[in-house]
Amino acid sequence: MENKEAGTPLPTPPREGRLQPTLVLATLSAAFGSAFQYGYNIAVVNTPHKVLKSFYNETYFERHATFMDENVMLLLWSCTVSVFPLGGLLGSLIVSLLADRCGRKGALLINNVFAVVPAVLMGASKAAKAFELIICSRVVLGVCAGISYSALPMYLGELAPKNLRGTLGTMTEVFVILGVFLAQIFSLDAILGNPTGWPVLLALTGVPALIQLLSLPFFPESPRYTLIQKGDEATARQALQRLRGHADVEAELEDMRAEAQAERAEGRLSVLNLCTFRALRWQLLSVVVLMAGQQLSGINAINYYADIIYVAAGVEAAHSQYVTVGAGVINIVMTVASAFLVERLGRRRLLLVGYGICGSACLVLTLALLFQSTVPELSYLGVLCVFAYISGHSIGPSPVPAVVRTEIFLQSSRPAALVVDGAVHWLTNFIVGFVFPSVQEAIGAYSFIIFAGICLLTAVYIYMVIPETKGRTFVEINRIFAKRNGVEIPEEKEEDTSHVGTMATRQTSF
Ligand SMILES: *[C@@H]1O[C@H](CO)[C@@H](O)[C@H](O)[C@H]1NC(C)=O
Repeated sequence: MENKEAGTPLPTPPREGRLQPTLVLATLSAAFGSAFQYGYNIAVVNTPHKVLKSFYNETYFERHATFMDENVMLLLWSCTVSVFPLGGLLGSLIVSLLADRCGRKGALLINNVFAVVPAVLMGASKAAKAFELIICSRVVLGVCAGISYSALPMYLGELAPKNLRGTLGTMTEVFVILGVFLAQIFSLDAILGNPTGWPVLLALTGVPALIQLLSLPFFPESPRYTLIQKGDEATARQALQRLRGHADVEAELEDMRAEAQAERAEGRLSVLNLCTFRALRWQLLSVVVLMAGQQLSGINAINYYADIIYVAAGVEAAHSQYVTVGAGVINIVMTVASAFLVERLGRRRLLLVGYGICGSACLVLTLALLFQSTVPELSYLGVLCVFAYISGHSIGPSPVPAVVRTEIFLQSSRPAALVVDGAVHWLTNFIVGFVFPSVQEAIGAYSFIIFAGICLLTAVYIYMVIPETKGRTFVEINRIFAKRNGVEIPEEKEEDTSHVGTMATRQTSF
């Protein structure tokens, strides 16, 4: 249009984007309808596990005229819990295809089918006297969570103006935690976590999906997707004008065009390329370690089995559900605190402090569980440890990897990195959910020693390898990693070649 001169090749000054109502509502509609599902379904089987198990047991009795064997129950319950992340893995593998074919908004909308259908099935499972319906539904819900866990940050990141990208980026985590919290509240014995209420409790997951189906169609598709993938500039401009409150959007469109061109020139890395590309070796390893560490440090063992842990730590069964809600409050408070602190204290410090707290909490928890039969007061210490662990995890290891992940990859490799990262996230999530009950059965309190060890190893890796990325540009971060990878970035050669050799030989040795 008129002021084409704003879009010169020079770096454009940061334009202050304000929170326009359309942007806020689109964010709420997208995040509530999708990230929320993940949190809700991870936590919803935790508190009322006894009610659900007795439903399994009764159903089995009606069919076979004998009660369910303990081992069969353990297996079926492990399945109920852990087919969810397995579905998530499947979802994370198909998300990029879906998001490229149908668009970001399209992917989120289609994804609601994977929430509404299982919600109906689970709601009907009691009347149908079929616990298999719950297990099958959780696979599908997992696919739903896997798709939204990757598609939502993509959609929000592409809607946001530059200066709000970080804030909208944390929305996924915030809504996951809100989902966890609401699930904890609804599954209280006094609300829906009882023999009559549980079908409703499980079916409630369909409600946010329905709300999204009714509201999201009124919001625009990601303008970056419309322009870059679809080449439809008029629609992209319209969408951008709505999102920015009819401010001038030409400069931003120009930025997108430049980005599209750069991407075409640089090429897009496939997952296979990413895994074999020497210049991205340490970045890739770092993302894998951060994601695996996040899950294998035991957060979902705590989420899935919190009640069992509290009872083992000496809390009365009737009270443990309220302790879980208390833990949920801590989780929310610390995650919000982390969103503020991450720009002040930096990524590294939050991660290291977080893993330090988690590792220590696991060690002390082990000791408390071991000695509480002789010293009854130690049972309170056990609960304190769980609270400390949750605080530690939600200040760093939970939210920060998502920030670092976007910062250490450039545009061309980010989509492939997102696939690897999603796959590792769900796979490790599954491993913990599936293996932890058996490990706990076998070695009892000592199972938390394993988590302490993983916290320590992850912290050591972060200390040695992950640079502080706060306040650095993508190019600067890329240069730090280039040294470690032992490759040079041509443009900046004259400044940095002096260190390249020594750094590379010193640090590729582990
Ligand atoms: C199933 O229910 C019966 C009767 O209430 C009980 O004795 C048995 O321990 C239960 N089985 C499992 C695996 O919970």
